[in-house]
Amino acid sequence: MWAVLVLVGAAAASAPLHSHHFDGEKVFRVTPHNEEQVEFLNTLASNVQIDFWNPETITQVKPEMRVDFRVEADKCFDVQSLLEQSGVEYEILIDNLQTVLDAQFDSNVRATGHNYEKYNNWEKIAAWTADIAAQNANLVSRTQIGTTFQGRPLYLLKVGKSGSNKKAIFMDCGFHAREWISPAFCQWFVKEAVSTYGSDTLMTRLLNNLDFYVLPVLNIDGYVYTWTNYRMWRKTRSTNSGSSCIGTDPNRNFNAVWCSIGASKKPCDETYCGSAPESEKETKALADFIRKNLSTIKAYLTIHSYSQMLLFPYAYTYSLPENYAELNTISKAAVKELTSLYGTKYTFGASASTIYPAAGGSDDWAYNEGIKYSFTFELRDKGRYGFALPESQIKPTCEETLKAVKYIANYVLDHL
Ligand code: ARG
Ligand code: ZN
Repeated sequence: MWAVLVLVGAAAASAPLHSHHFDGEKVFRVTPHNEEQVEFLNTLASNVQIDFWNPETITQVKPEMRVDFRVEADKCFDVQSLLEQSGVEYEILIDNLQTVLDAQFDSNVRATGHNYEKYNNWEKIAAWTADIAAQNANLVSRTQIGTTFQGRPLYLLKVGKSGSNKKAIFMDCGFHAREWISPAFCQWFVKEAVSTYGSDTLMTRLLNNLDFYVLPVLNIDGYVYTWTNYRMWRKTRSTNSGSSCIGTDPNRNFNAVWCSIGASKKPCDETYCGSAPESEKETKALADFIRKNLSTIKAYLTIHSYSQMLLFPYAYTYSLPENYAELNTISKAAVKELTSLYGTKYTFGASASTIYPAAGGSDDWAYNEGIKYSFTFELRDKGRYGFALPESQIKPTCEETLKAVKYIANYVLDHL
């Protein structure tokens, strides 16, 4: 009797009993080489429940694109034999997703509290926002810009030396719930800011002359859900009238030719654009804050994963933004900085042609509001672990990303 209770208790501590397990689930990578093979994938996706990792929906798939998707255990055998028969080039990226998910928490650091080299749950991140502000009152202050659908506080950190008429850079993390490396980067950034101010010349210059608004997690409800119920959740957790499906894709929910391309009008889809632009409390709060501070915010950075890309507008059209040449030059130099640390290779360019066309993104919206330096980061990796990036990669990923962010911030400061 006691042994049973102890076992149940131990299991509950690491993973709640009601959470979805990924035993035997596989992640496939396929590369269709012609329209016929794309059509085959369409048929496959309409017959079998498939979770697209990259791109996020079958509708975005084009010939020669690498397509990563997850298949539930009892469907893997069938999917694999269909792929064999069809002749579509494929490989198995992850043979057993649960094994890789268990291995996420591989950091050597033993910690029960908040730790920068581990994935922190929302409770720890929320407490951390209060602590870092309290302990660094000269550099960090915390405000709340709204609440989530489920009522959680949307905290925003303002990082910088106080001064008058300072311009600012806005950076958010955690749009998509399962992209855990993203919130880890926002936390890392703030840590680096407070710990290297006064010693690192560039960081000191940046914080003396600019403010950084850092939103550690935008989609908090979704993030909590990935910890408690379903690790692969992407969208918000709001209800949809007329449907039992939950959630809207926050990065399809902005007023940037909303829901025109690369987004879905169906609430059950992963790229559901919502009932209207800014229908989500989270995106509305972010957009309201940026609108209110448009005269000071000179750059917008939004952190996603995975695929190792630095993207800039537009995603809703193949047309290039007015300062395309400048954005491209900045991206090239920022990526060079990033790569210099560990050799991590990044691609960069306008979203539509570099990743895929998709409307309603926060980057395009911010750009059209007049923030001419607007970038989306897609952090590590390129699919070996995908969203299940091991904790041992948090430090190198954040260090290299910080190089690129500092480069961009310095450029923005030089061009105010
Ligand atoms: N993976 C990101 C997403 O699907 C790409 C973002 C690029 N920008 C955009 N506006 N779609 O949201
Ligand atoms: Zn994302």
